[in-house]
Amino acid sequence: MAKKILTIESSCDETSAAIIDDQLNVLGTVVASQEAIHERFGGVVPEVASRAHLEAILPVLEKTFQRAGCTLGDLDAVAVANSPGLAGSLLIGLMAAKTIAFLTGKPLIAVNHLQAHIYACRVAYKVDPFPCVGLIVSGGHTSLFRCQDALDFEEIGGTIDDAAGEAFDKAAAMLGLPYPGGPSISRCAAAGDPKAIAFPRPLVNEPDRLQFSFSGLKTAVRYKICGPGGTDTASVRLTDRQKADIAASFQAAVSDCLVAKSMAALRLTSMKTLCVGGGVAANQTFRRQLEEAAAKGKIRLFIAPPQLCTDNAVMGAIAWERYRAGLFEPLDLNIYPTKPNKI
Ligand code: KG4
Ligand code: ZN
Repeated sequence: MAKKILTIESSCDETSAAIIDDQLNVLGTVVASQEAIHERFGGVVPEVASRAHLEAILPVLEKTFQRAGCTLGDLDAVAVANSPGLAGSLLIGLMAAKTIAFLTGKPLIAVNHLQAHIYACRVAYKVDPFPCVGLIVSGGHTSLFRCQDALDFEEIGGTIDDAAGEAFDKAAAMLGLPYPGGPSISRCAAAGDPKAIAFPRPLVNEPDRLQFSFSGLKTAVRYKICGPGGTDTASVRLTDRQKADIAASFQAAVSDCLVAKSMAALRLTSMKTLCVGGGVAANQTFRRQLEEAAAKGKIRLFIAPPQLCTDNAVMGAIAWERYRAGLFEPLDLNIYPTKPNKI
């Protein structure tokens, strides 16, 4: 009979659990999003997030077991994302996982949230993509990794300031669009012209530098909305058409940067496979541009399906790799909120 693992994800503002078998079939999963809670603040408030995780974790677990038709006794292991993420949020998932591991006597497995974002491609396509270049584009991270295998990642590039998702969220806020900014910008952009405004493509002219920078682009959006110096807070006076053009042009600029540096990473590492995950990878314009560039460069491309781009516990299926390698954790496992260069 297939073995079953429970995975828990609570690193930022989604409380999620999944029960997945050793063939990577998802037997049941639930994602409880806190978007509505954080919307009025325009971003995730860490203390509010951890309290919301605390309220959601038991109902999410109960529903996941219900959907999977399983009980605690059916589990072979318990996995939890314990790095990187918000400290208070990570702790809720970790405590739940430890409790279940203690109760059932089954092994506890640590999941690295960034590795898991890339592993979402492995789960979705049921194809082994390693070795590959991994691009993680989310609200907190924009990083390029050389992924030798599922558990051996070395960071080869990343943002020197804002993450791509953070830039989407901030640009949306400037345009008066709701949080989270990625989906709002892309909805607004649908009616706009991506060539209307020539926003900068920072660092794209330096093809050997695997770095991103989005803070200048964000400032350019502010100047476009509020005039030179960005002091005239006149965004309310923008017409819907102007907003759509700004959103579409901003989205095109971010997408161009992400595609250019992904292709540069493939060239510099001589790798031929690219795996992409994280919330921003749900963006349709970015997906289309990446597909075109990959086809042109004869690159094997795996982009996580949209529902596995934003945070979820299904990508925690990477725990099966650790299970097979015998990488189990003691019950005093800690959280590691910041990201190491080699994971
Ligand atoms: O991976 P994720 O759910 O959480 C983190 O680990 O950060 O990513 C959330 C980020 C947010 O900044 C959100 O605005 C962005 O992903 N996002 C998008 C889209 N959907 C979510 N950005 C662009 N286009 C989208 N369709
Ligand atoms: Zn994430």
